[in-house]
Amino acid sequence: MGNIAEPLHRAGWPDFALYRPHPTTARLREWLVDAHQRTRLLTQNLDDSSAVVPMLAIVNPPIWELGHVAWFQEFWLHRGGNSNTPSLQPHADRWYDSARVAHDTRWSLDLPDIDATRDYVDAVLERSLALLDGDMPDDEQAYFAQLAIFHQDMHNEAFSYTWQTLSLPLPISLGESSLSSAADIDVPAGMIMLGARPGNGFVFDNEKWAHEVQLPAFSIARRIVGNAEFRAFVESGGYTRRDWWTEAGWASRERLAPDHPRYWRRESGVWSLRRFDRWVPLADDAPVLHVSAYEAEAYCRWAGRRLPTESEWECIAQSRNELFDCGRAWEWTASRFAPYPGFSADPYREYSAPWFAEEHRVLRGGSFVTPRRLMHATFRNFYKPDRADMFCGFRTCAL
Ligand code: AVJ
Ligand code: FE
Repeated sequence: MGNIAEPLHRAGWPDFALYRPHPTTARLREWLVDAHQRTRLLTQNLDDSSAVVPMLAIVNPPIWELGHVAWFQEFWLHRGGNSNTPSLQPHADRWYDSARVAHDTRWSLDLPDIDATRDYVDAVLERSLALLDGDMPDDEQAYFAQLAIFHQDMHNEAFSYTWQTLSLPLPISLGESSLSSAADIDVPAGMIMLGARPGNGFVFDNEKWAHEVQLPAFSIARRIVGNAEFRAFVESGGYTRRDWWTEAGWASRERLAPDHPRYWRRESGVWSLRRFDRWVPLADDAPVLHVSAYEAEAYCRWAGRRLPTESEWECIAQSRNELFDCGRAWEWTASRFAPYPGFSADPYREYSAPWFAEEHRVLRGGSFVTPRRLMHATFRNFYKPDRADMFCGFRTCAL
């Protein structure tokens, strides 16, 4: 049956030659090892007791997430995306397939313990490295190796923000620098190509393909909004003035962050914020993090500014203007996450398509924990607008 099932299964797959040029196998192996080392560091403090966390919609049980990362790599890179093929873990599909295992169910599975989970993770990596043995990968190997690496990068970021959510330490060190001038960059009106072009390497399905968009002139801040600016909004009563907020924003404010951004606190007039397991003074020249799209929009309305659209963001990012400072936080845009014209799902069908229907917002850029290999001018991240647990901030445009 395998012979018959295989070509049929692959019939709807894209032409991976369009995703060339590919990294060398040496580069893919380096990325695989790097992503795994990071996972290992981020989860080094997990033991069987701490592997159980509160059932929150915004986190996964870390022990499940660890197994899921290995399962994903094995499923796409070793098993051809075909559940009729065997896994190193006989129950892997029943436990770790995020499309099949409902979120709340992940707390009540008969999962392997932490040591067995780590053994599975290591065994999958070892096989991946053995698989990528020649000089150059073929089109499919290159695609699925990168899919697995970037997927692991995203879950590494999720581990990091889960530790923030749960007030746990981050077991990696961060290189962060202060913000520079907030001046605007003026961009003249013009036609831009929004989306990725074939022949520029790996892309996710939601980036396909480049298409023309007419943009009016705009002025966009060089950098994202900092704590001092956001504090001015908070201290001017920004969170109590209904007029700055949209209806959905106001409802979310009451539920999630009534007076100021979550993780901020004021004692005797002095602000501090919680970063992972500790409270630190609020640094004026650090980016404001952990604000929802609604909080960002309320700030904009107060400041007489607006959020950029994703087309504007991509336009300035593509321009290679050195003044454009990004990569400190995922940046909310005004754009709803929607398919580009002619969208068709790639083999991992659940990556984008299920999220077009519910309201998700596009975020652009990347954060201080996002590996550079994942940061591209065309990359589209997406979350519901009330989320603020990720490392997200925003920049503004002139009205
Ligand atoms: C693209 C970051 C929104 O975390 O839900 C991980 C990435 N998809 N496993 C998410 C993802 C499946 C996704 N984001
Ligand atoms: Fe995943």
